[in-house]
Amino acid sequence: MTTVLTGIKPTGTPHLGNYLGAIRPALELAKTQRALYFVADYHAFTTVHAAAEMRDQVHEVTATWLACGLDPDKVTLFVQSRVPETFELCWVLLCCLSAGQLERGHAYKAALDRGEAPNAGVFGYPALMAADILLYDVDNVPVGQDQKQHVEVARDVAQRFNHAFGETLVVPKPVIGEAPLVPGLDGRKMSKSYDNAVPLFGSAKELRSMILKIKTGSEPLEAPKEAGPSSVYQLFKLLATPARAEQMVQQLASDPKYGWGHAKQDLYEVIEAELGPKRELYQRLRSDGAYLDEVLRKGSEQAREVAVGTMDRVRKAIGVR
Ligand code: TRP
Repeated sequence: MTTVLTGIKPTGTPHLGNYLGAIRPALELAKTQRALYFVADYHAFTTVHAAAEMRDQVHEVTATWLACGLDPDKVTLFVQSRVPETFELCWVLLCCLSAGQLERGHAYKAALDRGEAPNAGVFGYPALMAADILLYDVDNVPVGQDQKQHVEVARDVAQRFNHAFGETLVVPKPVIGEAPLVPGLDGRKMSKSYDNAVPLFGSAKELRSMILKIKTGSEPLEAPKEAGPSSVYQLFKLLATPARAEQMVQQLASDPKYGWGHAKQDLYEVIEAELGPKRELYQRLRSDGAYLDEVLRKGSEQAREVAVGTMDRVRKAIGVR
């Protein structure tokens, strides 16, 4: 059985794009592989320097994944900071990476390009991520396109380590989901930085009013309308059955009584059917911080057992202790 692992950075409220592009596909992968999913709180610490916010966001993403259907008895759900071996391996890997490779990191370069003075955590970010991955003998790492370079650093450093010290680390590979781009309210990729995102667990009322705001053509009701380019249809297609999606295409094209308003109503209903029950569960979980902490503690204990074994191998290989 292969192993799949991914990290979730607890920054920002999860939106529909996160659900369709990352959470839903990751839960799908967990059906056929050993899965470890974790909250990357120390990655968030490169930017979140506020204790209350950190605690709150860790709970928020934990409740989100559980509400979306992650079963903590089947998937190891844990917190990065509860596995101290991560930081020991991170140091080992830093000493096996060239500074030049980190200087070429996308995130680090982008911060410099924006005229920021990034802290050294931003510089070392790919090494910490490599430690997250290499600690657990992972085969597959599902990530968005923006994280692909980081997984390649992990691959690279694992190969380099094995070459220098003998076969010790499992060489992982990135899995870039073929999930289609999730469009936001303005038609661009749904992203919190574009301010076009639909929050995953906003109220039903909020959801409806956001959907009504999606830009569409302004053809008269009876005119034939093309579904394809519109965000309304593209979102609908990601949630509805193929037959229902095809029906919307036909109705927009040839039903003189079916306009964009009707399409938006259909979109609202299909999203609400998917998210409504999850929202309720989310709210219950969110008000039970003790339960969330307990889930994370148990998961972290399991993860740590694996991590301790890997770190033993690494120490032996490099001649420490
Ligand atoms: N850097 C990832 C992000 O920003 C989160 C992450 C941290 C991660 N460690 C990881 C993803 C290890 C995959 C594997 O989204």
